Amino acid sequence: MRRRAAERPGHGGTTAHFQSVYPFLGQGGLGAPGTYIGRDAYGGAWMYDPWVLYPAHLPGPNMLMLGGLSSRKSSLVKTYIYRQAVFGRQAWVLDVKGEYWPLARALGVQPITLAPGGGVRLNPLSPRGGREGPLSLLRSVAQAALRRELSPEEDAGLRVALEIVDEESGAAEPTLPMMVDALLHPREAMVQGVSATSREDFAEANRSSALALQRLCAGDLRGMFDGPTSEGLDLDAPLVVLDLSAVRDSAALGILMTCCSAWQQSILLERKQAAEQEGRESPKLISVVEEGWRVTSHIGVAEWLQASFKLCRALGVQNIVVVHRLTDLGAAGDAGSREARIAEGLIGDADTKVIYRQPHDQQELLRSRLGLSRTEAELTTTLRLGEALWMVGRRSFLVQHRVSQVEREVVYTDWRMVERREAA
Ligand SMILES: Nc1ncnc2c1ncn2[C@@H]1O[C@H](COP(=O)(O)OP(=O)(O)OP(=O)(O)O)[C@@H](O)[C@H]1O
Ligand SMILES: [Mg+2]
Repeated sequence: MRRRAAERPGHGGTTAHFQSVYPFLGQGGLGAPGTYIGRDAYGGAWMYDPWVLYPAHLPGPNMLMLGGLSSRKSSLVKTYIYRQAVFGRQAWVLDVKGEYWPLARALGVQPITLAPGGGVRLNPLSPRGGREGPLSLLRSVAQAALRRELSPEEDAGLRVALEIVDEESGAAEPTLPMMVDALLHPREAMVQGVSATSREDFAEANRSSALALQRLCAGDLRGMFDGPTSEGLDLDAPLVVLDLSAVRDSAALGILMTCCSAWQQSILLERKQAAEQEGRESPKLISVVEEGWRVTSHIGVAEWLQASFKLCRALGVQNIVVVHRLTDLGAAGDAGSREARIAEGLIGDADTKVIYRQPHDQQELLRSRLGLSRTEAELTTTLRLGEALWMVGRRSFLVQHRVSQVEREVVYTDWRMVERREAA
């Protein structure tokens, strides 16, 4: 048969080269089982589970979530926890807005309400997971409250005060009021421990940090972090919600959130030690910090959060930090500044990034800090409600989150109003 003018002979090639003539074919999903999240750009079901993906497809489980007001970030977190509960994953949430009550109810648990004089105390200095944790927390909290770095005298003062309080409390747990007392009325051993000239000199040098810690135990914040942890808290429930909405307007909220996280971490470390002794794996846990910018806006506690992010792999924990945009993490800080280092650390340790719609002014940062391509960065400015760019390890996916009829009540934030009315 005669060939027509425009026809060309067929081209032979291997299947390895075949992908280049199929430019519009993309990956449908992560290629691993997981919890259903929603629909990807190709219309298929999209699943995700950091522990299944680790380590072959994902270096670590932490997640950073970015999204403007009402972009449906919390809805994703709530349904994710709800769906993961089926697989036996536990979740702990720092609930700043008091919006996790419907989810708690759906999972048959009661949130733990932290309110001044409310009857529930958490001890952030609990040494259950080791002695190093309380000291780093004290340093961070004091720095954040004083809004400056600690002087060498103050730093050493906290160390020797904690040592003496540890010794004096015996089998009991050290507490913040004990620390305040020791700093304001130093014992001789503390004076010698830092080679101060006198007790008065020691007390004078440490007065500011003592008062900063006292702020967490007195006045409008009393009764939450100023004693041993209350008995009877069910920490093995599928969901543990710490409701901080009673103090959501406090200027110290970021510091209070960090106290809660420190307490949680001590429990997790203790659990891990117990699991190791019994030769079993630590249970998988999702730990959510909603309104993360309240923590990251205090540089001292932001550093603490970043350090605790690193611990996750060893503890079997997926940390999820929710913020509005990268600048909330201090990512716009000058290169090499403390702010920029914290942002780099948090971003570097979050191997999953979920990016909801972003304003145009964030594009450069998204490209330089998260490594988004120009097309991906542009895409983030046009995302619809509930639609997010998921960056899982080095792969990215466009996913529309889906909420079932049953879950609607769980994600509906106006329930907050109903709950308040019921409580009243
Ligand atoms: N699939 C959905 N269909 C309809 N409404 C939805 C859907 N998902 C979430 N919503 C509603 O959108 C509202 C806002 O969602 P959500 O609280 O998750 O946003 P957010 O990004 O966490 O907001 P904020 O910035 O205030 O924390 C909620 O009242 C929720 O009921
Ligand atoms: Mg929210």
